[in-house]
Amino acid sequence: MSAIESNPAWKAHYEATKDVPEVSLDDLEWADAIIFSIPTRFGNVPSQMKQFLDTTGGLWFQGKLANKAVSAMVSANNAHGGQEQTVLSLYTTMYHWGAIVVAPGYTDESAYKSGGNPYGTSVTVDSEGNMQEDVKDAVMHQAKRTVTVAGWIKQGMQG
Ligand SMILES: Cc1cc2nc3c(=O)[nH]c(=O)nc-3n(C[C@H](O)[C@H](O)[C@H](O)COP(=O)(O)O)c2cc1C
Repeated sequence: MSAIESNPAWKAHYEATKDVPEVSLDDLEWADAIIFSIPTRFGNVPSQMKQFLDTTGGLWFQGKLANKAVSAMVSANNAHGGQEQTVLSLYTTMYHWGAIVVAPGYTDESAYKSGGNPYGTSVTVDSEGNMQEDVKDAVMHQAKRTVTVAGWIKQGMQG
């Protein structure tokens, strides 16, 4: 909380989103597609996110995270501040889950105008929280692609 208090952009974001429901382990269980969006912390997954991932051991043990379609997006303050590494670090846990990682690659034009991170859409934000690249189309494409692949997986498993 003291970290949030020290940054006006974080405080504004906290106030604007405090009624957004927090994800639970139940949500991971029922979802066919899961899209993570995280900031980098020293080129790595934020500890809060990691802490949540570390509570998924029970679901993992029961095989309930296998074959989920998963994808990740990331933000950082610098253009080369560790975006790619952060997404890849998150995907390591996904591989352990047995999830199917749906990276955007260069499957759509939108990748190019958003900086061309093939692992997951990434954005550079300044200290006021202003985004430096136009990522809206890339986010939409990545989300649609993840849901489409989730549909394929589900269909294939039923057939
Ligand atoms: C502890 C800490 C480490 C960070 N490390 C990096 C970094 O290595 N590279 C970078 O570009 N930005 C770094 N940032 C900036 C965040 O990635 C940036 O604040 C974030 O992308 C914006 O989302 P947020 O408001 O949720 O933090 C760091 C921020 C914090 C608090």
